[in-house]
Amino acid sequence: MSAHPLLEVDGLRVAVRRDGTALTVLDGVSFAVGAGQCLGIVGESGCGKSLTLRAAMGLLPPGIEPTGGEIRLSPRAGAAPCAVPPGQAAGRGLAMVFQDSHASLDPTARVGAFIADIVRRRTATSRAAARRRAVELLASVGVPDPALRFGAYPHELSGGMRQRVAIALALATDPRVLLCDEPTTALDVTLQAEILRLLDAARADRGLGMVFVSHDIAVIRQIADVVAVMYAGQIIEMGPAPDVLDRPRHPYTRALIDAVPTIDGPIGRFRPIAGSPPAPADYTPACRFMARCAHHVAACSGPVPGVGGLDSRHRSSCVNTLEAR
Ligand SMILES: Nc1ncnc2c1ncn2[C@@H]1O[C@H](COP(=O)(O)OP(=O)(O)OP(=O)(O)O)[C@@H](O)[C@H]1O
Ligand SMILES: [Mg+2]
Repeated sequence: MSAHPLLEVDGLRVAVRRDGTALTVLDGVSFAVGAGQCLGIVGESGCGKSLTLRAAMGLLPPGIEPTGGEIRLSPRAGAAPCAVPPGQAAGRGLAMVFQDSHASLDPTARVGAFIADIVRRRTATSRAAARRRAVELLASVGVPDPALRFGAYPHELSGGMRQRVAIALALATDPRVLLCDEPTTALDVTLQAEILRLLDAARADRGLGMVFVSHDIAVIRQIADVVAVMYAGQIIEMGPAPDVLDRPRHPYTRALIDAVPTIDGPIGRFRPIAGSPPAPADYTPACRFMARCAHHVAACSGPVPGVGGLDSRHRSSCVNTLEAR
């Protein structure tokens, strides 16, 4: 990582407002991403992965709001990150790719014209130059016949092709950090591998910082340098990918890894995690995984804060960490 990270998410707290009360759904989430680095965020459904990206981007749904923390973005390569006023990260160096490409494309606009429009708004260039740039962007994400596909509507494209277009659209804003929310989950395995390669190449070629969210630990293993494991609105383990994935310290991370069947692993090793995570209304300061954990001890009932941070040191929130046994 260069001297300064490009993006810092520091102590992010987010709440859902319902019937006059605020239910905390993200609780002190912190991480940093440097140029050319990919932070993978993994965790079960509902743990807060999407809200983390949406909060960073300033795209929270109505009724959900940040209640604490700061988003900092580097204004240019090599510069220290500065606080971004809430909701203003888009267009200032952050772009997002969603699981559902329909979420980013306009069904009534030809895909090339939509991208060219974004290029024009950003760079105040001529219509012809913006069109050329859009065709280049479509080519760069592997859209065959980009000049022809320029005129297509989103519904005329296959899911994989639409996801490529959504990536081109994100790149059209010339981001320094790309936030990817399960961009391959809706695709079949072959397309999934192609899109992963494409994103990885975009990161390497452009020195992009990347945050890649997935519930699939195998995908995270392929793409991430640093891994943050989320559980019930907190980061519970974080560190360099090989440390977290090969030498996990938190029983939840261990369980997530054991829940993935491997081709060369021993037969019968595959074990889904029993039970389900608590709902936000049941979040407490104690360890939120305790009820599902075979290793819990008395100290797990005390306050167990999340362990996100702005450096990538390997750390776990488990008070009875696996390493200590
Ligand atoms: N629009 C909403 N209104 C109310 N609660 C919400 C809303 N969106 C998310 N939540 C709640 O916030 C928590 C985090 O949701 P989030 O969508 O970030 O999870 P996730 O990790 O992305 O899950 P998935 O893997 O299913 O995409 C969940 O408890 C969810 O129920
Ligand atoms: Mg999600």
